[in-house]
Amino acid sequence: MVISGSFAVKICTKIYKRGDVMFKLLFKNMKAKNWVSVIAIFLLTICEVYFMMQIVTYISLLTKAVQDSRQNGVAEIWWYGLYMVICAILMAAVEVIIRFVASATASSTVTGIRQKMYERVNKFAIADFASFSTESLITRTTNDMQNVHLAWLTFLKTAFLAPVVMVWSVILLLQYANASLTIVTAVWLVILVVTVIILLMMLTPKFAKVQKLTDALNVASRENLTGVRVVRAFNAEEYQEGKFEKVNAAFTKVQIFAGRTLSVFTPLVMMVMSGLSLSILWASAYVLNGMDMEAASQAFSATNAFVMLASQIIMSFVLMVTLIVIWPRAAVSAKRIDEVITHEVSVLDTENPVEFKEKGTIEFKNVGFAYPGTDKEAISDISFKVKQGETIAFIGATGSGKTTIINMIPRMADCTRGEVLVDGVNVKDVLQSDLRDRIGYAPQRGFLFKGIIKDNIAFKNPDMTLQDIRWAAEIADADGFVMKKRNGYDSEVAQGGSNFSGGQKQRLCIARAVAAKPEILIFDDSFSALDYKTDKTVRGRIAEELPDTTRVIIAQRVGTIMDADQIVVLDHGKMVGIGKHYDLVRNCPVYQEIALSQLSKEELGL
Ligand SMILES: Nc1ncnc2c1ncn2[C@@H]1O[C@H](COP(=O)(O)OP(=O)(O)OP(=O)(O)O)[C@@H](O)[C@H]1O
Ligand SMILES: [Mg+2]
Repeated sequence: MVISGSFAVKICTKIYKRGDVMFKLLFKNMKAKNWVSVIAIFLLTICEVYFMMQIVTYISLLTKAVQDSRQNGVAEIWWYGLYMVICAILMAAVEVIIRFVASATASSTVTGIRQKMYERVNKFAIADFASFSTESLITRTTNDMQNVHLAWLTFLKTAFLAPVVMVWSVILLLQYANASLTIVTAVWLVILVVTVIILLMMLTPKFAKVQKLTDALNVASRENLTGVRVVRAFNAEEYQEGKFEKVNAAFTKVQIFAGRTLSVFTPLVMMVMSGLSLSILWASAYVLNGMDMEAASQAFSATNAFVMLASQIIMSFVLMVTLIVIWPRAAVSAKRIDEVITHEVSVLDTENPVEFKEKGTIEFKNVGFAYPGTDKEAISDISFKVKQGETIAFIGATGSGKTTIINMIPRMADCTRGEVLVDGVNVKDVLQSDLRDRIGYAPQRGFLFKGIIKDNIAFKNPDMTLQDIRWAAEIADADGFVMKKRNGYDSEVAQGGSNFSGGQKQRLCIARAVAAKPEILIFDDSFSALDYKTDKTVRGRIAEELPDTTRVIIAQRVGTIMDADQIVVLDHGKMVGIGKHYDLVRNCPVYQEIALSQLSKEELGL
């Protein structure tokens, strides 16, 4: 008994805690109007139960009227019937209103949460994305959100009804106090509760697994779709299918288990309901058997009402069961959503931002950075200083840390050691938005947004004139191919820019960075997809049109960076040389090696 008691407490605590995650998430994100709706639903539920109980009372009265109809006639029966119909109509009307309000409230609350989640993810730095995979973030915003929505909607529609019906029925039942009937009802309820708890214990861990497997399914599908060209080229369809099948099979297995376990519920509840009615009737027959005709007739209408009320209790429990089944899954989802919303973003804005002191300058002081989850620094002891209008270039083998270094400038990540200064102040001491306002950035992998070309270039300022857009595109040598398109700057851009070649994407990304007319321009390997002549023309135009803009260029080709004011040579995350091309090509062995692999001694002037 003691063991089962502590077992029950343990389970209840577990259920409470799971519920708590849901409520925590919902309550934190509910607006005042949502609370008003919840209270309205509660009051409407009381109305609904009032009409429901009126019907039960009339049934009892009707039974009696039928018994007395020989003496009193049938008029009374008609009246009671009419009252019951009116109550039923009113009950249905209230029910419709409740569902209406519940749907609106659930949608509104969940929309708020989804918005919050989106905003939080938008603030994520590189390190934060490492904590959640892209696929998991997508599942969390879609599938998990749906689970929470469904559970909250079911809660609003049913959660108040069950307790109100139960309390009301118990109060009414006390009128017909009868020990044997009460015991019969209690026994069946206990059977129901115990079975529900056992089923829940079996299901809850599976729900957590279902969500994890949904993530895995998304990874498998997404990878296959985004990498479709590679899959085709390598005839790897079967290999990919195998990977997908494995996840799919695991997912199906868990789903089938959950489905089968859940399918026990309805028959079980039906069985309890029938069992309860039968037992009550049997117990009443037993009680009535010993009475004379007059007393039995009186007791019969009471027994009838008892059966009705007991059924109401079970019915309200059935509604609760639906909720109890959905809730654990939603709680797992709510936890996953809450993890994202409450995730401490690693790059945060300072409370007391300071003013920028200079214009267009960058300085690194002994900067080191280790990616999350690694002890080894990807870059270490990086120090350099760039003045306004100067060009600094980074060169080094793949994986030498070039992208990592320039990511520190617009605070895509915060350095783990040392200091990064832009315009004379530490980047951590200014607002991220102010900092990024001063920086134009073309990423290593040209990325375009679905829409039209014009909007992609005028990304920073949607009100930009077509003249300015064309000016930027001309600098990036993109105007030519854009104008050749039938709709010019209004031409469609497919998702991810998939209807453009690699070089065209790069040029549009350069145009986007230039169009913002920033103080500092960062090009992460943006020129590598251009032929050497175009590369030179574009760099020349940038220098000409934006002479005061500081340029940070990562390049693979020595030719691209030869005329830079400073060249930083990187090797395994460390600076192995800094200076002008002329000096480096003579004094820096790593640079010399790179240079000689691309150009002849004569071209290098050696
Ligand atoms: N998100 C990440 N998590 C962990 N390690 C990373 C991450 N991104 C890069 N690295 C590691 O940091 C090192 C530097 O990478 P980085 O991208 O800066 O190189 P890179 O010089 O830009 O190379 P490439 O010329 O190929 O673009 C590499 O060894 C890489 O494995
Ligand atoms: Mg890189």
